[in-house]
Amino acid sequence: MGNSVLFISFFIFSFGFLEAQKAPAVYVFGDSLVDIGNNNYLSLSIEKAILPHYGIDFPTKKPTGRFSNGKNAADLIAEKLGLPTSPPYLSLVSNVHNNSNNVSFLRGVNFASGGAGIFNVSDNGFRQSIPLPKQVDYYSLVHEQLAQQIGASSLGKHLSKSIFIVVIGGNDIFGYFDSKDLQKKNTPQQYVDSMASTLKVLLQRLYNNGAKKFEIAGVGAIGCCPAYRVKNKTECVSEANDLSVKYNEALQSMLKEWQLENRDIGYSYFDTYAAIQDLVHNPTSYGFANVKAACCGFGELNAQIPCLPISSMCSNRKDHIFWDAFHPTEAAARIFVDEIFNGPSKYISPINMEQLLAI
Ligand SMILES: *[C@@H]1O[C@H](CO)[C@@H](O)[C@H](O)[C@H]1NC(C)=O
Ligand SMILES: *[C@@H]1O[C@H](CO)[C@@H](O)[C@H](O)[C@H]1NC(C)=O
Ligand SMILES: *[C@@H]1O[C@H](CO)[C@@H](O)[C@H](O)[C@H]1NC(C)=O
Ligand SMILES: *[C@@H]1O[C@H](CO)[C@@H](O)[C@H](O)[C@H]1NC(C)=O
Repeated sequence: MGNSVLFISFFIFSFGFLEAQKAPAVYVFGDSLVDIGNNNYLSLSIEKAILPHYGIDFPTKKPTGRFSNGKNAADLIAEKLGLPTSPPYLSLVSNVHNNSNNVSFLRGVNFASGGAGIFNVSDNGFRQSIPLPKQVDYYSLVHEQLAQQIGASSLGKHLSKSIFIVVIGGNDIFGYFDSKDLQKKNTPQQYVDSMASTLKVLLQRLYNNGAKKFEIAGVGAIGCCPAYRVKNKTECVSEANDLSVKYNEALQSMLKEWQLENRDIGYSYFDTYAAIQDLVHNPTSYGFANVKAACCGFGELNAQIPCLPISSMCSNRKDHIFWDAFHPTEAAARIFVDEIFNGPSKYISPINMEQLLAI
């Protein structure tokens, strides 16, 4: 009897312990691919997903600020971790009278903002966003407040098990293509090297404030998004894809070097480019029928006028890779998130999310 009670408590204890090995929280940084509503709080931003048909497949069926028909990668990663989606930072701090806010930082925070880049200036076209350097400033404030509240040691333990997601770079690549001035001042190689080295400084600031486990995405095949395909008779724009590949190479060597300098970092790199190319080249094996057009929009490939209430919408939102001219459907995001968790290594390396959780 005594033994079995002991055994059972041991079992419950171990089970609890295993559960505790899962991430206690997710901290999200990045652009519109993982923004879940921060931009709704920016008065000047024109990059906001607040009108139908955005959100048509979200549980509430309403626009939420997500640049998707439904859930985005930030939601789907949280879902797989068994956690609620981390709330937008600006929703937490905008409610100054809410005394539980500081504590709720412990359940994860999303700092991502549509239009944001690694560089401060990459959001110029959208008038306002929270560029990555500013997102990292906000995280530092969160860190300071939490340290005061629960103490440096508990906070250190909490953060070292939490997952830090970083999805950024696409807007910097768009920025280079849209600016003759940037092209004159930097070769493509110089530009992507500067993106990677600027990102490294920002990642180091997260690490200096307790982050240990990073899920970092490269940029997608920018030249294959509907907005770019319309510039090349519906084919992918090669220069944009070449620049994406160059940046992803620079990013991967930076990450390797960074880990050598900080041995206790764990990171998992998602090759968004390879993952998208695979969907584009083998659509039927994933259940997709249309890889070129946006589901919601207007004009050629539904990519010449944005997704608005008056826009046309495809009949099957599950068989399109792209929801609007720039962003994936929930269906495509689900495939990416499955790959992030379970591999294979041509998409996720040197380890996948399952392995990142276990270290
Ligand atoms: C305070 O913020 C938390 C976390 O966002 C939320 O769950 C709660 O409902 C808020 N309380 C009030 C009174 O607004
Ligand atoms: C939250 O943090 C702010 C800033 O550090 C502090 O003024 C406030 O007292 C904190 N609230 C709670 C409930 O600890
Ligand atoms: C970005 O802007 C912030 C102010 O928001 C400034 O402190 C920082 O130095 C800028 N970073 C770069 C690389 O220009
Ligand atoms: C347009 O698409 C074709 C076919 O994929 C490709 O060979 C060509 O390089 C593209 N042109 C530009 C300007 O990207």
